[in-house]
Amino acid sequence: MELKTYLAERKALIDQALEKYLPPVEGQGARVTVAMRYSLMAGGKRLRPILCLAAAEAVGGNVSEALPVACALEMIHTYSLIHDDLPAMDDDDLRRGQPTCHKKFDEATAILAGDGLLTEAFVIMSQVAQGLSGRNAVVLEVINLIAQAAGYRGMVGGQMADLLAEGQSLGLPQIEAIHSLKTGALLTAAVRSGALLGGGSPKAVAHLTRYGQCFGLAFQITDDLLDVEGQAAEMGKAPGMDLLRQKATYPGILGVETARQQARQLVSQAKMELAALGPEAEPLRELVQYLLIRRH
Ligand code: IPE
Ligand code: IPE
Ligand code: MG
Ligand code: MG
Ligand code: MG
Repeated sequence: MELKTYLAERKALIDQALEKYLPPVEGQGARVTVAMRYSLMAGGKRLRPILCLAAAEAVGGNVSEALPVACALEMIHTYSLIHDDLPAMDDDDLRRGQPTCHKKFDEATAILAGDGLLTEAFVIMSQVAQGLSGRNAVVLEVINLIAQAAGYRGMVGGQMADLLAEGQSLGLPQIEAIHSLKTGALLTAAVRSGALLGGGSPKAVAHLTRYGQCFGLAFQITDDLLDVEGQAAEMGKAPGMDLLRQKATYPGILGVETARQQARQLVSQAKMELAALGPEAEPLRELVQYLLIRRH
């Protein structure tokens, strides 16, 4: 399997589906829908939807049944980036290679574009239930777990803790908790929801959930590493901001080498969780391995 081709094909599939779900850009409230489209289609890696689809396939499910939820996950993620970049939070000017939403539009529009994307995600997911007749209970479970992962029990709680940690000297368990919440929760929800929609057995879903947790933490560690070592031109966002804002990061407290070691360990742990799954899980194996070499 050629990962680069796989990622490009999946991204194209997801972009095409997102295009279909985006609201029209004329009429009432046009400014907010233009801003929603601007940030959503600015060119993210689409990792959360890709994981959702790959998890569905890993348990023998099909891509088309998981695609709407995959798109909803990307909308929730993009909302979190728009708000994360606001002056009241990380105050960043560059995202996905373009000016951040509040720089391109204004702060109020960026707040509302985020709100619009978050809400639309739930419109899309609640419509899925109508398409998957006889499987409403699974869809409801998926909506519930994504809502919990995105909210104060997960990403929102993690973002709060991340801001409160600025300038503080935290220990490893505290940073691990922040990273697992602010980033791990949604990535885990992406994998778990795909596994559930794909009809995975309880055992397979449990393995994939633990894979998602390891993936999520490893992902944020490599995000922290890129902030130290990456290039703006490749990342599409400015490096060096964590140091400037005195963020709690893995390289910040452990140093670059030990942080990298932690990421490697989590990657092998994630792959161990996939041992019970067959060749259909190959993309998930390659996706987590890719975290160690990613440059954006
Ligand atoms: C960036 O996420 C924010 C974090 C959770 C670290 P991604 O690196 O997945 O960003 P995009 O979607 O590719 O822009
Ligand atoms: C962002 O973490 C996590 C969420 C958006 C939920 P970061 O603040 O490290 O993400 P970047 O580096 O700005 O993409
Ligand atoms: Mg942040
Ligand atoms: Mg940030
Ligand atoms: Mg970061």
